[in-house]
Amino acid sequence: MDMQFAYHLLWENVWLYITGTFVVLWIIVWLYRDSLEIDKVTDKYVFVTGCDTGFGNLLCKKLDRKGFHVLAGCFTEKGADDLKRVTGPHLKTVLLDVTSQHSIQKAMEWTKKEVGDMGLWGIVNNAGRALPMGPSEWMKVEDFHSIMKVNVDGVIAMTMTFLPLIKKARGRIVNVASVLGRVAANGGGYCISKFAVECFSDCLRRDISYFGIKVCIIEPGFFKTALTNLEAIEREMNRLWSQLSPEVQASYGEKYLEKFLKIQHLAMKFICDPDITKVTNCMEHALTAAYPRTRYSAGWDAKLVWIPLSYMPSCVVDIGLKLLLPRPLKSI
Ligand SMILES: NC(=O)c1ccc[n+]([C@@H]2O[C@H](COP(=O)([O-])OP(=O)(O)OC[C@H]3O[C@@H](n4cnc5c(N)ncnc54)[C@H](OP(=O)(O)O)[C@@H]3O)[C@@H](O)[C@H]2O)c1
Repeated sequence: MDMQFAYHLLWENVWLYITGTFVVLWIIVWLYRDSLEIDKVTDKYVFVTGCDTGFGNLLCKKLDRKGFHVLAGCFTEKGADDLKRVTGPHLKTVLLDVTSQHSIQKAMEWTKKEVGDMGLWGIVNNAGRALPMGPSEWMKVEDFHSIMKVNVDGVIAMTMTFLPLIKKARGRIVNVASVLGRVAANGGGYCISKFAVECFSDCLRRDISYFGIKVCIIEPGFFKTALTNLEAIEREMNRLWSQLSPEVQASYGEKYLEKFLKIQHLAMKFICDPDITKVTNCMEHALTAAYPRTRYSAGWDAKLVWIPLSYMPSCVVDIGLKLLLPRPLKSI
């Protein structure tokens, strides 16, 4: 009787067991596949942009330690000198401004000579700017453009100029977007630029996959770097406020800026993660894994807050931000 009952129970739940087994097997295979690495990294060349500070700087040091030939595009001479001082002979630096096609072309010619017949294994489009950020109405058209020039035009120009070298090595393009390229939580050019990086990367990935080139998108949450420096953010907010007309200032009210900065201060202190290796580990995986992922989300806030929010209806983000941010004085 007991045997019959057990048999009946088993048979009744057979689809549950089959599905469970399939899911577990799928996870095991995925984890195994994800852990496979490429070989001969010492033969490979990687170009990184924006290496003076932050993620780019740490990534160069880590790739150098791993044995890659690192070609580090630095924005300033000081940044390049500082990086060279702490890295080995296989890391070389070049001055690069991603907003200048002349500078990009020069860096590409230099890279072509460095890599020779090997081609370029990887390019990491990391250089970026975030400021000014703030209420959209406070921006001038140039404020949007100044960000787009670096974060969008720079990424596209670098990618298109270096593409022949990447194609030769059947290499990787790693574009640094942001969780703010999934959820538009700030006014100004930054979110727009990161949405554009997501879109450019998706189109590019589909178009050039036929040639064995992989395109990966890094979506960091909030991390403590020069980009999220609170003093710089506050300085820019004050500048934006001071250039507003008296009518616009009156519609927000004197206390608005003060309250906005206070909330931003608290939110950034709470959310910014000082451990930037979470981001560089994703970049490294994109360059060294046999099967790199299409998207990497780095940081607890990205995984638990921003990425889930990006799948929710817009009204959820609208209400959340309305509850968090101050109301302008003359709001209706
Ligand atoms: N930190 C975060 O929370 C966060 C989150 C999501 C995404 N990101 C993205 O991650 C990337 C790296 O940012 P980060 O946080 O490491 O900040 P960062 O330390 O400010 O790094 C950005 C680097 O880009 C350089 N740069 C700026 N304009 C350039 C130009 N025209 N040409 C070449 N290089 C230029 C900067 O040089 P200077 O310092 O000399 O200006 C700096 O070295 C950016 O694309 C950013 O949008 C950051």
